[in-house]
Amino acid sequence: MMEYKIALLEGDGIGPEVVAEAVKVLLAVEKKFGVRFNFEKALIGGCAYDEYKTPLPQQTIDICKASDAVILGAVGDWKYDMLPPDVRPEKALLGIRKALNLFANLRPAIVYDELSSSSTLKSEVVSGVDIMIVRELTGDVYFGTPRGIEVVNGEKVGYNNMIYKESEIERIAHVAFQTAMKRNKKLCSVDKANVLDVSRLWREVMERVAKSYPEVTLSHMYVDNAAMQLIRDPKQFDVIVTGNIFGDILSDEASMLVGSLGMLASASLSDGKIGMYEPIHGSAPDLRGKDVVNPIATILSAAMMMKYSFSRSDIYDSIDNAVKLVLSEGYRTQDIYTDAVQKLVGTAKMGDLIAEKVIA
Ligand code: IPM
Ligand code: MG
Repeated sequence: MMEYKIALLEGDGIGPEVVAEAVKVLLAVEKKFGVRFNFEKALIGGCAYDEYKTPLPQQTIDICKASDAVILGAVGDWKYDMLPPDVRPEKALLGIRKALNLFANLRPAIVYDELSSSSTLKSEVVSGVDIMIVRELTGDVYFGTPRGIEVVNGEKVGYNNMIYKESEIERIAHVAFQTAMKRNKKLCSVDKANVLDVSRLWREVMERVAKSYPEVTLSHMYVDNAAMQLIRDPKQFDVIVTGNIFGDILSDEASMLVGSLGMLASASLSDGKIGMYEPIHGSAPDLRGKDVVNPIATILSAAMMMKYSFSRSDIYDSIDNAVKLVLSEGYRTQDIYTDAVQKLVGTAKMGDLIAEKVIA
């Protein structure tokens, strides 16, 4: 029997609630597919700070490194807003990405037919959208140095460094082209090469790597135009590759095509063995403990784990189908509830329903 060791980093806010539903679905996967998961929890974010005075304890990194994959809920809570930047919960998220070398972040934005009326955009614009955003995750202005705030000529100056090495662009380019090869062989690289030097290098490297993938059609788009095109005609996109900060912004934008942040899963991959899987939404501390948030993003992240870490596309499909079935039966959490004929359910009930369909 295949056994997988999974680190569970529940984090803060609604993190534990959504991770619990992903675990529920994975327990259904155990029954149905005869695999075995060994879960180990570790603290990250504000809850880790409360316990160890650091949001990312070394033992959390060690537990992740000793696992086959990591499932993460979310980090952050307003109650930590006054902490110095170095020990903020968000720092832990960046820290774990870096520690595990998770440079490739895959963020699919798929509009399920059942939800095409949940988007604020017209359903004819969004129905059928299936975009994969490949976001570089361990470089860019997020990690560049020098950075800081200091006093220059009597006033404060804040600065960060948007920086990419050729090797960093190259490896994300390969992930993007390989992703495109498995889909419709269409890749759009998003940058700001009309203004930024770092983007000119990005574009140059993308063109170079493209030579190894002659079947893929590569196009380039400036990020401001891409933000506009995503809303105007999202179906023109298949795979998008971009840097860390542009990818952060465009993936939140893409979530609104789908209707809710609560639907968007992600995979963060390295060239080694560990992948980390997390919903793209945050910790929503105001909703904690109310059993109202949508667990589907985390459940689909667990599905992505089966596909990308364990090469079990069959299990991915089974979970994905279970989600579609439950939606087609009219069950909705509050974030995707649009119509009185639908059945409003809470977080735990949504997890139960999806788990039942996986086993059925
Ligand atoms: C995301 C989040 C994080 C990011 C924050 C919480 C640091 O917005 O995963 O998209 O900016 O990467
Ligand atoms: Mg973000």
